[in-house]
Amino acid sequence: FRTIDDLDVAGKRVLVRADLNVPMKDGVVTSTTRIERQAPTIRDLCAKGAKVIVCSHFDRPKGKVVPSMSLKPVAEPLAKIVGKPVAFAEDCVGPVAEAAVAKLKDGEVLLLENTRFHAGEEKNDPELAKQMAALADIYVNDAFSSAHRAHASTEGVAHLLPNAAGRSMQAELTALSKALEEPVRPVMAVVGGAKISSKIGVLENLLKRVDILVIGGAMANTFLAAQGTKVGKSLKEDDQFPTALKTLEAAKAAGKKIVLPVDAALAKEFKAGAECRIASVNDIHDDEMMLDVGPASIEEFKKILATTKTVVWNGPFGAFEIPPFDKGTVGAATAVAEATQAGKLLSVAGGGDTVSALNTAKVGNKFSYVSTAGGAFLEWLEGLELPGVVALAVK
Ligand code: 3PG
Repeated sequence: FRTIDDLDVAGKRVLVRADLNVPMKDGVVTSTTRIERQAPTIRDLCAKGAKVIVCSHFDRPKGKVVPSMSLKPVAEPLAKIVGKPVAFAEDCVGPVAEAAVAKLKDGEVLLLENTRFHAGEEKNDPELAKQMAALADIYVNDAFSSAHRAHASTEGVAHLLPNAAGRSMQAELTALSKALEEPVRPVMAVVGGAKISSKIGVLENLLKRVDILVIGGAMANTFLAAQGTKVGKSLKEDDQFPTALKTLEAAKAAGKKIVLPVDAALAKEFKAGAECRIASVNDIHDDEMMLDVGPASIEEFKKILATTKTVVWNGPFGAFEIPPFDKGTVGAATAVAEATQAGKLLSVAGGGDTVSALNTAKVGNKFSYVSTAGGAFLEWLEGLELPGVVALAVK
């Protein structure tokens, strides 16, 4: 693929597909890691005299305008990090976006509203891609973390304009290939977090590439419940039980190890300061929910880690944003960071929540590599082609 050094961008309108799907609470951005990763492309394009039009999805508004999922609160932190004012347009296509683009001068930056406010985005509707393409002369995809989605802004539009990979896209692809093409074994994958249905399907494929699969977070609740463990009010997805059982069988048949928590931090409510009880996963009361793995699970994790040479990690073990339910994630992340720093381990982590969790554990810079991608990172691990990357290929 081309990079932004291969195209003449001076005076041109450049549509940058960024991934600004950042953690946000009550309209305030709580982690700027993803914004920081996108800044070099925007800065470089500005320095080269381009009119920079930034677009991204945010959360999952399902094709409707959901005010709480506006990208507007991202404009200010973006401006601060890029070091330039960032204008905002309340639509990503159509007259509002066109008028805002027409006002842009060379070297200026505009942020467009959430691409997923249009149903055509996730459907990869050619009409929406055409409207996006009409805003610009050049398309730059800098959103490795959205490259597993064949959407209008990540895939469709790439075919309609001269295109290039942004700095972050380049860096991600280079670092991940280096770390994962020929990993030193045994390889351990750690998969957690709350996005169960979007991740569970990849586990069977992932098992073909790794030796040990450690499952945490709400994903673990679903695996435990699928096997008949009573998990009380814990977050789980019952319709994913067949997939969970199939994955367990596949692991057994292939002689691979799946590690589930043996104990948990339990609470009746999901809030800060909630009373917390540590118990075996076989002793969860009906009115309790699992909000983190327990200390025995972390000890078990450390034991297995000592025999591992490569770790790939996506998704926290528990509700790490609310202490004391961060203990499992922090304990495991710290163990991985220490082994990495001692030269015993190559560790790669990916995912928005994972990055925040590693920062909570103060080990964000102690892994071998931290990708901002979650789902794309997992699909990359599986060995799948990412549509957003494929669309950049020079024909
Ligand atoms: C991510 O956070 O992994 C990317 O921004 C993609 O988000 P999505 O899973 O909602 O498509």
